[in-house]
Amino acid sequence: MKFGYVVLCGSLLLSASVMAKEVAPQNEGKSLHDTNCVSCHKAPEIYTRAERKVKDLNGLANQVQRCTTNLKLNWFDSENDAVTAYLNKEYYKFEPKASK
Ligand code: HEC
Repeated sequence: MKFGYVVLCGSLLLSASVMAKEVAPQNEGKSLHDTNCVSCHKAPEIYTRAERKVKDLNGLANQVQRCTTNLKLNWFDSENDAVTAYLNKEYYKFEPKASK
């Protein structure tokens, strides 16, 4: 009985962490961002300042990639995409298929 309980918990934990890597839940971008990205630049100021560097969606994706690479976070593309989507939705508001 006790053994069965331990096995059940273990497999629940395992499937939860597998899911976290494979599918991006709606709020993944926000939680990844809030955990990893606010130590250097303060959100939202840097994303909304008048002289911000990012000018379009590709630029945003590139900059997110640049920061995660700098930080050696080794994120999956899906994680970069989730944070890019989060920042775009909250702050940048570029058209999804904007300029290249
Ligand atoms: C080690 C410090 C550091 C961390 C942590 C960091 N960044 Fe950056 N980020 C920078 C610097 C430096 C700039 C450039 C600021 C400038 O050009 O004035 C920047 C700029 C940006 C910009 C462009 C802002 C603009 O001008 O439009 C975005 C977007 C961005 N970072 C996203 C992220 C994301 C997403 C994360 C988390 C994965 C992150 N950053 C974590 C240092 C950091």
